[in-house]
Amino acid sequence: MNDKYETHEHDVIVIGAGGAGLRAAIECSAMGMKTALICKSLLGKAHTVMAEGGVAAALANVDSQDSWQTHFQDTIFGGKYLNNWRMAEIHAKESPDRVKELEKWGAVFDRTSDGKIIQRPFGGHTYRRLAHVGDRTGLEMIRTLQDKGIHQGIDVYMECTITRLLKDGDRVCGAFGYWRETGRFVVFKAKAVILASGGICKMYRITSNSWESTGDGIALGYNAGAQLLDMEFLQFHPTGMVWPPGVQGLLVTEAVRGEGGILRNNKNERFMEKYDPKRMELSTRDVVARSIYTEVKEGRGSPHGGCFLDISHRGAEYVKKKLPSMYHQFKELADVDITTGPMEVGPTAHYAMGGIKVDAETCATRVPGLYAAGECSGGMHGANRLGGNSLSDLLVFGRRAGMAASEYAKNAKPANIDSAEVENAASEMTGFFGRPNAEDPYKLHIDLQTMMESLVGIFREEKDLTVAVAKLEEFKHRAANVGINEGQRMFNPGWHLCKDLRNMLVCAEAVARAALLRKESRGAHSRLDYPKYDDYWGEHNVVSEKQGDAMHVEPCPVVQAPNVVALVEEKKAKEKK
Ligand code: FUM
Repeated sequence: MNDKYETHEHDVIVIGAGGAGLRAAIECSAMGMKTALICKSLLGKAHTVMAEGGVAAALANVDSQDSWQTHFQDTIFGGKYLNNWRMAEIHAKESPDRVKELEKWGAVFDRTSDGKIIQRPFGGHTYRRLAHVGDRTGLEMIRTLQDKGIHQGIDVYMECTITRLLKDGDRVCGAFGYWRETGRFVVFKAKAVILASGGICKMYRITSNSWESTGDGIALGYNAGAQLLDMEFLQFHPTGMVWPPGVQGLLVTEAVRGEGGILRNNKNERFMEKYDPKRMELSTRDVVARSIYTEVKEGRGSPHGGCFLDISHRGAEYVKKKLPSMYHQFKELADVDITTGPMEVGPTAHYAMGGIKVDAETCATRVPGLYAAGECSGGMHGANRLGGNSLSDLLVFGRRAGMAASEYAKNAKPANIDSAEVENAASEMTGFFGRPNAEDPYKLHIDLQTMMESLVGIFREEKDLTVAVAKLEEFKHRAANVGINEGQRMFNPGWHLCKDLRNMLVCAEAVARAALLRKESRGAHSRLDYPKYDDYWGEHNVVSEKQGDAMHVEPCPVVQAPNVVALVEEKKAKEKK
């Protein structure tokens, strides 16, 4: 490596500073690693802060019958048996300790009258299980993790986008990126890399996700040789804001329903009675999102194309105490007082269940030295995630990724960065300037979002998905010629979008191809032409890059442990009663 570019050297670099990245970095630094935490945004602004309703853990503080076994059963049921059983088991067993650890580090959870961490109900959870801080749980988690991480001596690099992982032979040895402010390039050299860069939903127009969620980690991993798992499973959260247009998609926490919120259509019917009379508003998200979508499609929607969600019967004092953000959000953004009347809500693209294929114990990908945790990894949530399981997932697997990456780094020989690879990465980025007849990145982004929404949305079918795959080929050609004719690298969001688009296209293609291949309906994947599950356990879809750049999706059998089968049978028997 020459000294042409600013270079930083660490044992482990963590890409992404939400809950998973912070928790991973804390573990690495606790294990004596020189650790870098790289954020696309400012520290403290990662998308985890938008997680509102709570973190799921079988603490059994409110419902003493709760146990890790029940949490595990609920997770597998919610995921429609497609979860990596070992991840679901580790998650259910370790979540309570991770929540207690957060409390020890300073997180101030809401309390029961006898001083324990309080827990609220959420869809698909048998017991009241979500530890929370009003409706600002993600914010409190990030605040706590950030304080802990900073005091422990993690090196934080803010407003830095990583565009490529660097490799020495098969193993990763660092990353290449640029400072968002100046556009200057930067190289990070490391023995191990952890991807924790969150979600992909910016490929949809209506989404709860922030501007950062462009699938960078998934694309970085895929381009470096990692496999992707079950990408077709994308969660549409049932309740996002539908009005005014500028905030369409913004999350309306499930905690509103957890605290007793009722969904109604324009005929004042409590329509969940039709779709899931047992669990009603606290059915799983896939079911509630489809129900709202169907009500709207069949003409029973609210004036702005959603339905009504009402919590006003709980009284103003209660609503302001338990849902302070929702109160302010609707008052300030929509001029609606949710203590006196209903809000209008509708489905919003929220979460990728699929992601980088990892080992359950260590979060290792198939690329030596590369690990992934949190939303950018796949397997834990199967075909549909239960609310609150993402916050516990990122604590449990962030820690495990940190431990395993540190062990790897301790034993790894120093790696070499290949300057030709660095130059290649640099020219990909400079190549976006000065292209004759360049494709406008903003226009391509809108075309991608519009297409994904209409052809790869809540309900899918073969003819739409086939068109989507063909359209994505066309978009990839357009993305090859995307560019910026004016300006320079400093303060240039159009330039940033050129690369973000390529990442979104990797993810969109994986979602569409896997959705086309899966000829059944399961969890968040609803095929109008195949409305039933194919069989009891289903199969995974594994995405890998074949020689010659073509994306290859292949079904692979689900491995189940005997105890999973027994626990699921037990839960099925209970449900029948
Ligand atoms: O509805 C919510 O508060 C979101 C939580 C989650 O996605 O887990």
